[in-house]
Amino acid sequence: MARILVAYASKKGSTTEIAQAIGKELEASGHVVDVAEMGTVTSLTGYNAVVIGGPMYIGKMIGETGKFVRRHYIGLEKLPVAGFIVCLAPVTKDPVDREYAQKALRASLAPLQPVAETVFAGKLDPSKLSWLQKLMIEKAKSPVGDFRDWTAIAAWARELPGKMKV
Ligand SMILES: Cc1cc2nc3c(=O)[nH]c(=O)nc-3n(C[C@H](O)[C@H](O)[C@H](O)COP(=O)(O)O)c2cc1C
Repeated sequence: MARILVAYASKKGSTTEIAQAIGKELEASGHVVDVAEMGTVTSLTGYNAVVIGGPMYIGKMIGETGKFVRRHYIGLEKLPVAGFIVCLAPVTKDPVDREYAQKALRASLAPLQPVAETVFAGKLDPSKLSWLQKLMIEKAKSPVGDFRDWTAIAAWARELPGKMKV
């Protein structure tokens, strides 16, 4: 049994729910899990592995993830780390869009070398956006809706302990 931290960042809540779903799945595998907004994490002492997740905004992973990696780098480089990015890129089914998101995830977590990394489809609810954000998503012709695939999220989470060797 390992102690695993699922550290997430989110602006509109869809990544929060994905992080919670990953946490539940890890708990169901018999691990002790903390799911925490990454800005609130003060120490990694006692954890055997860390999952880091955040959304993509305007072509980049949310800035909090890079800040989290820099702040906790000394602890993180000694632990198995897995990363996920949440965005609308997978919705287009174009492998180039997915690859772009994967690169954004890698750039944000660098120089860490995650043992697992993935791109999850997220959610876009125009009623939660500012007028400027609405304008941006209209211009980008973004798909609107909840595209989260809970089966894929649970399946990825179930594979983590094996990949993290915990
Ligand atoms: C202003 C804005 C910009 C976005 N930019 C991108 C983007 O560049 N690429 C992408 O795939 N998704 C983009 N998205 C979609 C978000 O990644 C998606 O809504 C995600 O689920 C948000 O996560 P959160 O609810 O945890 O904040 C954007 C959404 C908004 C509102």
